[in-house]
Amino acid sequence: MLFPPRIATPRALLRAWHSDDAPRLRQTIDANLDYLLPWIPWARDEPTTVEQLRARLEGDAAGFVNGSSWIYGIFSLDGSSILGGIGLYPRIGPGGVEIGYWIDRTHAGKGLATELARILIDLALTRDDITHVELHCDPHNLPSAAIARRLGFALIETRRDVGTTPSGASRDLMIWRLSRSESPSSGRRTGP
Ligand SMILES: CC(C)(COP(=O)(O)OP(=O)(O)OC[C@H]1O[C@@H](n2cnc3c(N)ncnc32)[C@H](O)[C@@H]1OP(=O)(O)O)[C@@H](O)C(=O)NCCC(=O)NCCS
Repeated sequence: MLFPPRIATPRALLRAWHSDDAPRLRQTIDANLDYLLPWIPWARDEPTTVEQLRARLEGDAAGFVNGSSWIYGIFSLDGSSILGGIGLYPRIGPGGVEIGYWIDRTHAGKGLATELARILIDLALTRDDITHVELHCDPHNLPSAAIARRLGFALIETRRDVGTTPSGASRDLMIWRLSRSESPSSGRRTGP
């Protein structure tokens, strides 16, 4: 397994999802759906049933083990509340992982996404087999673009007309990249 399934950070616990998280996650998604919908592709498939969500989380848990993606739930330190989700996806070609995240609206605006993304990115870039991390976001997603800038990512391109927004307008996509050589983790590498 490339990444630990449980990471305690100063303000939150990152833990690989379990299917048993489905009922609580259902409530958290319901409370955030309008907020996630413009930006998060999977939100368009919501609302799903708890059973469908359970199946999705089983897939995420299996993916964590087989390395198709590493998707964490973000929990309060005592594990009692779901604060969001964050994941690394090796789907951008050799040596690259894409990072994605969402934060429950009642916990947003406190630097949590920046802090947790930094922790996962540092972990990723200490590995010999990961050379760069990308963050893909809609140019209208100002908080996410601010996170990319703050973490030192460079904007390498803006792809035009990559899809549509939920209201049917055409959507562009900013591709931000942070390479190991530009990261504070540079030089602290570990083997696979
Ligand atoms: C994007 C998201 C994860 C940010 O989470 P968060 O914990 O609030 O993020 P942080 O507090 O770490 O940072 C947000 C940054 O955006 C900035 N920001 C917030 N609203 C902004 C706005 N309207 N314009 C410009 N910057 C804005 C904040 O000031 C902060 O940057 P700063 O610390 O440099 O000032 C959260 O809003 C979310 O879940 N949104 C819906 C899902 C989503 O968009 N996911 C990302 C898809 S690419």
